[in-house]
Amino acid sequence: MTMMEEKLLVMRGITKEFPGVKALDHVELQLAKGTVHALMGENGAGKSTLMKILMGIYQPDDGEIILNGQKVKIESPKRAHKLGISMIHQELMPILDMSVADNIFLYDYPARKGIVQKSVLYQKTEALFRDLGIEGIDSKAFMKELSQAQMQMVEIAKAVSAKADVIIMDEPTSAISDHEVENLFRIIRTLRAKGVGILYISHKMEEIFKISDFITVLRDGQYIGSAPSIELDQEKLVSLMVGRELKSIYDRHPAVTGEVMLEVRHLKCKGVCEDVSFKLHKGEVLGFAGLVGAGRTEIMEAIFGLRKRQGGEIIKEGKKLDIRSVRDAINHGLALASEDRKRFGLFLDLPISYNISISWLNNLAKVGIVNRGNEKEQAYKFSKDLRIKSSSIKTKVGKLSGGNQQKVVLAKWLLTKPDILILDEPTRGIDIGAKQEIYTLIEQMAHEGKGVIVISSEMPELIGISDRIITVHEGVIKGSLTGKEITQERIMMDLG
Ligand SMILES: Nc1ncnc2c1ncn2[C@@H]1O[C@H](COP(=O)(O)OP(=O)(O)OP(=O)(O)O)[C@@H](O)[C@H]1O
Ligand SMILES: [Mg+2]
Repeated sequence: MTMMEEKLLVMRGITKEFPGVKALDHVELQLAKGTVHALMGENGAGKSTLMKILMGIYQPDDGEIILNGQKVKIESPKRAHKLGISMIHQELMPILDMSVADNIFLYDYPARKGIVQKSVLYQKTEALFRDLGIEGIDSKAFMKELSQAQMQMVEIAKAVSAKADVIIMDEPTSAISDHEVENLFRIIRTLRAKGVGILYISHKMEEIFKISDFITVLRDGQYIGSAPSIELDQEKLVSLMVGRELKSIYDRHPAVTGEVMLEVRHLKCKGVCEDVSFKLHKGEVLGFAGLVGAGRTEIMEAIFGLRKRQGGEIIKEGKKLDIRSVRDAINHGLALASEDRKRFGLFLDLPISYNISISWLNNLAKVGIVNRGNEKEQAYKFSKDLRIKSSSIKTKVGKLSGGNQQKVVLAKWLLTKPDILILDEPTRGIDIGAKQEIYTLIEQMAHEGKGVIVISSEMPELIGISDRIITVHEGVIKGSLTGKEITQERIMMDLG
């Protein structure tokens, strides 16, 4: 295969230091034309940083970049774009007050005599969506009207439309459903056949072995090695990534489930659900399965006081609750760790310690006791338990890697010591080692007699950790599966 031999991109000796962290230490990467190259490593290993250097977002302290045999300096994203490099970012950065079409053609506005041709813009966008098999997104809609999954599809379309030689995908499937993943893989294969080099980052192992030709592993900013994917298997790859042995990930000891902890009756929420009723028991891990857009997140938001309800009752331990705000929910012992950490989860400009203790602080402040010392101690304990990688707990959350930000969201809610913990895509973007820590925490909570609700789009995860699974389709509960009924096929049948 001559295509494989041709080196499209070489990154050599790339080094980058941030205050207190050596994010990259002489890292190597070689990307061949017409290949998919996976970049693997735990949270904070340096993957996004390496890609941001290639995109001209950061400048390396040392090292060189050779593109098509030429040494290049990439001083800005605009320059990267000119050189034929485009990127789908891990943290999506759409311009929310602009239309879908405007976002896609940000750099290549179809203009005639300097005047932007809106109609042309919309047509081009629609043609692009048709090409890529993307359905249900209005090219004229504002970005802010879209769901996370739709925004991710728009980002993908944007990268493809740039006709780049190198496309970087930093966790492109974190917010999209299996069906859309298949669609994305179809797009990737088409691009690969055209000779495009794709750099692919994901924590989902099955994906990596399905789509990648080569794998490069980073650990703690160090280059560990590269190999063709067929020479590796999951076990080998994990040991290269983590540098230690991991036990089986869904090694569960189910808790004994007790009385009803939470009952939701006839929940009604405009445009989301008409009549949702279910029970959560003490000691139970209750999974919610559904396609992206099925309304699972919205149902939980309605319960948690984040979304207006038109009807229905929420009953905890036999007592009817009046939840009108998040504060009410927290005061009644509920916690919701949200999938969208930017919108509800975190204050990016504030330190880890502050972010971890904020909702808990609000709670205590009401009673009038805020104990700073305790706050620090607790924040420290959780950041250690979840292995949050940072130079100190004073580090601003915005400076953490994506997966480590997600861990801060979790730590924060665990600290409210809830009776009912609702987790919405808790392991999105989380590496395999930390996933295990999170599963252990979920199990612990169940064993303490708490109730845990988990929404996850990763079927093996949901099946692995749930005692019971509720299936949701278009805002309606389709079924409740327990024990041997819990299989991928059965769930898919309900969702079909
Ligand atoms: N702008 C920044 N300022 C300070 N430190 C940073 C900055 N960006 C990244 N870091 C640090 O560099 C290290 C590598 O982060 P990076 O985002 O590259 O990790 P990653 O491999 O992409 O992880 P994840 O899988 O969680 O996305 C981390 O310790 C992170 O906290
Ligand atoms: Mg990253």
